[in-house]
Amino acid sequence: MPELLKMLGSRYPIIQGPIGMFNSPKMVAAVSEAGAYGMLALGFINDTDEVKKIVSEVKKLTDKPFGANIMLINPQNAEILKVLADADVKTVTTSVGSPKDVYPIIHGLGMKGIHVVLALSHAIAAVKAGADALVVVGSEAGGLRSRNPESSTMVLVPLVADNVDVPIVAAGGIADSRGYKAALSLGAQGVQVGTRFLASEESPASTQWKKAIVGCGDGGTDLIPALGMKVAQRIIVTPWVKEKMADPAVKNIADELEINPDKTGNYERAAFGAGQVSALIREIKPIKEIVREMVS
Ligand SMILES: Cc1cc2nc3c(=O)[nH]c(=O)nc-3n(C[C@H](O)[C@H](O)[C@H](O)COP(=O)(O)O)c2cc1C
Repeated sequence: MPELLKMLGSRYPIIQGPIGMFNSPKMVAAVSEAGAYGMLALGFINDTDEVKKIVSEVKKLTDKPFGANIMLINPQNAEILKVLADADVKTVTTSVGSPKDVYPIIHGLGMKGIHVVLALSHAIAAVKAGADALVVVGSEAGGLRSRNPESSTMVLVPLVADNVDVPIVAAGGIADSRGYKAALSLGAQGVQVGTRFLASEESPASTQWKKAIVGCGDGGTDLIPALGMKVAQRIIVTPWVKEKMADPAVKNIADELEINPDKTGNYERAAFGAGQVSALIREIKPIKEIVREMVS
């Protein structure tokens, strides 16, 4: 059995890409029940009682394995990892920050960790820091990006595979069986899928967000500044975003966006995070169907 599947304990080597603050036990359980690896997004949570509650809700819905993503900028990670280990979570992913200090904690709890990298230099450093595997994310992916020039999945995955000896999970641009098979051919043992699951029936994203993904065509996403200009974020170029991007009076479009459209109802000014692969997503589908098609 490939090393990655041993770490995940799932039927298929497909990881649900964590999405910012989305922690839908229903969605995580649906991914795990479909044979993939459901993933909580704990990057922005620092209350361990909240983590315990979410984890127990997932466990009520599935007895299949699932994991969690932690962001290394979160000061509560040691406590969060302890909660996860007590709940028998075997493998976590780590992202956004230096992996140096966290891997001894992960291994001390008997867990495995997969570090998320956007560049070859980060991959080499993460393996030195003790990462058991890597999620290698190409520039077409949804989510946070660095502001440096970056390589696409097609280039970065084989490049990292040639330079490290831990299992690799490819991410960025994978939405169907063609992308899944291509990733395995490039030297990955599995894939991480963000945007395709975001536009699933079980996803807690708003209908407006899902429709924006389905309606997004070729070249329909772009990068905007995020986290106070330090990094970038890939979003769908809606008519409003297009207008603001072309307006020389707008210095930073991130300042103009509606942060919480689900609360205010102002979806016109929303930033719908998504990857370039949105162009391949034509329908909102149940997760079971997405996974079945991907491995067919
Ligand atoms: C809106 C959005 C939020 C994301 N939030 C996170 C996150 O909190 N932590 C993380 O490691 N990755 C995050 N990602 C990245 C995904 O987990 C995944 O790696 C990426 O979406 C894969 O590329 P794809 O969108 O082409 O499938 C996010 C992606 C999107 C679209």
